[in-house]
Amino acid sequence: MTITTSPLTLTINGKQVGPMDVPDTLMMVDFLHEYLGLTGSRFGCGIGVCHACTVLLDGPGGAEEIRTCITGAHYFNGKRIRTIEGLAERDGQQKIIAITPVQQAYLDHYSFQCGYCTPGFVIGATALMERLKAHPVRADQLEDTITEHLGRHICRCTGYVRYFEAAKAVILATPGLVTKEK
Ligand code: FES
Ligand code: FES
Repeated sequence: MTITTSPLTLTINGKQVGPMDVPDTLMMVDFLHEYLGLTGSRFGCGIGVCHACTVLLDGPGGAEEIRTCITGAHYFNGKRIRTIEGLAERDGQQKIIAITPVQQAYLDHYSFQCGYCTPGFVIGATALMERLKAHPVRADQLEDTITEHLGRHICRCTGYVRYFEAAKAVILATPGLVTKEK
């Protein structure tokens, strides 16, 4: 069997990657893991259900969450994405010097146990906060919004409550994401 390849170029975490010859049928999660060593996006279900493999696709309308286990690497040709590795602030030597408020909130609330699902939950809450910055919700709608948004992510260890509580806390602590109730 011949594996056909095509050149792929994209921007990941602010840096151009490629052009690289990549198999036409390769899924993005495998490209991130096997070609780039970016293993933070987790392979969980492999069928688009658990959201552990999610990355942020940046476009003019804001960031979109994309499941990389069901999206081919070539879909991202010419596009800009952020992976879990690109969220924390790093110094010139690529050492992490500051984690994000979402990451800190999950730590503060002891939101995870094994942590396998955590990159997906970080990406999910990050996308939600960016969306709320553009379109704030009323305070009385916040819990439903969080449940709807993060409820797509599957965690086998916890009862989700601490993830949701952490997301609520960090959103409420960030000015401009929530409006007052009527
Ligand atoms: S591994 Fe991609 S959605 Fe589960
Ligand atoms: S903390 Fe283990 S799967 Fe979520």
